[in-house]
Amino acid sequence: MPDREVRVLFVCLGNICRSPTAEALFRREVDTAKLSARIGIDSAGTGAWHAGEPPDKRAQAEARKRGIDMSSIRARKVRASDYAEFDYILAMDNENHAHLTVNCPAKYRDRIHLFTVFADGFDVEEVPDPYYGGEDGFANVFQLCEAASRGLLDHIRDKHRF
Ligand code: 4NP
Repeated sequence: MPDREVRVLFVCLGNICRSPTAEALFRREVDTAKLSARIGIDSAGTGAWHAGEPPDKRAQAEARKRGIDMSSIRARKVRASDYAEFDYILAMDNENHAHLTVNCPAKYRDRIHLFTVFADGFDVEEVPDPYYGGEDGFANVFQLCEAASRGLLDHIRDKHRF
C-alpha cells in the first residue's frame, strides 16, 4: 500500500456489510479506469466483533447479482496506523465519523469524510446500517456505494490529475 500515490479506506461498524461493499465497488471503478497501480484501497470496522470474517452473505449476494465477488475480503478493525496511512478515510454514517474523529490525531482529521458527500444525486447523509433489516437495505447500500464510488474517483482524478 505505501507504493500507491493515493490510499483510500472505507469504514463502517462491523466491516462486513457497507464498507466491504464500498471497497469492492470502488475497486471496480479504479480497475476500469486502469488506476489500480496508483490508488490503494482497503476497508475496516470501528468494531472488532467480526474480525477475520468474510462479508455478510446478504451483502455478498447483492454484489454477486451485479457480477462482483467479495468473498475474499476479510473484516478487520480500524488500526491507529490507518490515520497516517490513508489519504481518504470514508465513514459510512455519522457514528462511524464521530468514532474516527475522536481517535484520529488532529493533524490527520481532514482526511475523514462522510462517503455520501461523493454520491451525486442522492440527498442523504448516511449509508444506513442494513444489518438488522431486510434485503431492501442491502440494495440501497449497493446503489449508494456505487454512486459515491463514481463521485469519489472523479474527485480523486480531478484533484490528483490522474
Ligand atoms: P456494517 O454492518 O457496519 O455495515 O458492517 C453491521 C455489521 C454487524 C453489526 C452491525 C452492523 N453488528 O452489530 O454485529
